[in-house]
Amino acid sequence: IEKETLLYTGKAKEMYTTNDPEILWVEYLDQATALNGKRKVPIDQKGRLNNRISSLIFKDLAAHGIPNHFIDQPTDYVQLVKRVTMIPLETVVRNAASGSFERRFAVAHLTKFPEPVLEFFYKSDALDDPFINDSQIHALNIATPEVVAEIKRQALQVNQRLTTIFAAMGVQLVDFKIEFGLTAAGDVLLADEISPDSCRLVDLKTGASLDKDVFRKNLGDLTSVYQEVLARLVTVEED
Ligand code: C5P
Repeated sequence: IEKETLLYTGKAKEMYTTNDPEILWVEYLDQATALNGKRKVPIDQKGRLNNRISSLIFKDLAAHGIPNHFIDQPTDYVQLVKRVTMIPLETVVRNAASGSFERRFAVAHLTKFPEPVLEFFYKSDALDDPFINDSQIHALNIATPEVVAEIKRQALQVNQRLTTIFAAMGVQLVDFKIEFGLTAAGDVLLADEISPDSCRLVDLKTGASLDKDVFRKNLGDLTSVYQEVLARLVTVEED
């Protein structure tokens, strides 16, 4: 597989076409952004660590009956993925209160929910990714009710498996964000990435954040935190 032209530059990744029209080339970058890209900082090793973490998680999910766009991780910074048409929604699953939920509803930090909370945000830099509900999604023709139902079903499956993986790592999965695409056949397929950039992870013993909140809140060295997450994930995935 050969890298061809740059398709898109994201906040932490670059996407390229390849000589195979079905396959995209993703490069994970050594940088972190916050405030929807308004704050951008170079972070040593971050691209390599997130690529490895995301690759291991996608492989695990596929092995547990949750198909996704991951094909292969040819090098430290590169991932090959199946090309899909991205659905412009961020799907957030929450097991406990944190972040924007905690702020919006003024509930105590890490209050556990009786069942997972599902939220959608409309991906739009111009609008700052606003919250959007099912009927608004349908009204704006962003996705059909069938596609939304399938996204919800897969998101809850991902939550179940991720919760199990992280618990085995001594980590509470507080919440996470995933994104989906549509294949040429019209199937909903898990895409984008799953890494500590897009999950809230709390050490079960110490209560320390093991995710991008370390960067968002200036709590310490992000590289060493991501190294710790990868080290624990490798232990679990090699069992
Ligand atoms: O900020 P909020 O509480 O809504 O974030 C919920 C989850 O979604 C967090 O795990 C956060 O890391 C993730 N997220 C993300 N990308 C965004 C917004 C949130 O990965 N643009």
